[in-house]
Amino acid sequence: MTWRDARPVRVGVLVSGRGSNLDALCAAAQAPGFPARVVLVISNRRDAGALQVASRRGVPAEVMPLGRYDHDARARDRAMRDRFLLSEVELVVCAGYNRVLTDEFLAAFPDAILNVHPSLLPAFGGGMRAVEEALAHGVKVAGCTVQFLEPGIPDGGPIIVQRCVPVLEGDDAERLRQRIHEQEWIAVPEAVRLWSEGRLRREGRVVRITEEVRS
Ligand code: GRF
Repeated sequence: MTWRDARPVRVGVLVSGRGSNLDALCAAAQAPGFPARVVLVISNRRDAGALQVASRRGVPAEVMPLGRYDHDARARDRAMRDRFLLSEVELVVCAGYNRVLTDEFLAAFPDAILNVHPSLLPAFGGGMRAVEEALAHGVKVAGCTVQFLEPGIPDGGPIIVQRCVPVLEGDDAERLRQRIHEQEWIAVPEAVRLWSEGRLRREGRVVRITEEVRS
């Protein structure tokens, strides 16, 4: 059996913000033939724009703020893990999720948590100001990375997809961020597609992309 015969992979998405990556992933997943679909969105913030995106796209969404779990991240992440498992989520995508996940959560989805970061990792990882730092550093090329999320160094996981953009004279963080965002909207669905087609093979920290199987 090839992935083409299989049912779509069930994807759970973690969000905290505007939700433009969620929107791009839902749009891709709603197209015929995409090998995955978004079955549940969890936000740690009630005011996340991503919740409206989920509603507009007809995807179930829940809010699980830290306050509801006595500000205990382990308890909250256990609840998120259990919620995803209840929905039979096979692949988790962090699409602008602003918290570090506990090792216990990560262990529940081995090699099955993807994260998008607005820089060409390993440059400018580990923070929320990657675009500002890239500009301040004077780089001429910036971009985004989708990687496997793993315990250890934040943003240090194996790289799956990277896309780059030029840094233009006169760019400010807003303009550059927008250009990077547009590449994320391509990179995230692409990484989900590759994962769902079973085309990612890990060799240590290197991720090989295998040929598409044509049927
Ligand atoms: C993206 O730039 C992503 O790289 C970062 O957070 C941002 C989320 O944007 N981790 P959105 O909520 O998907 O619009």
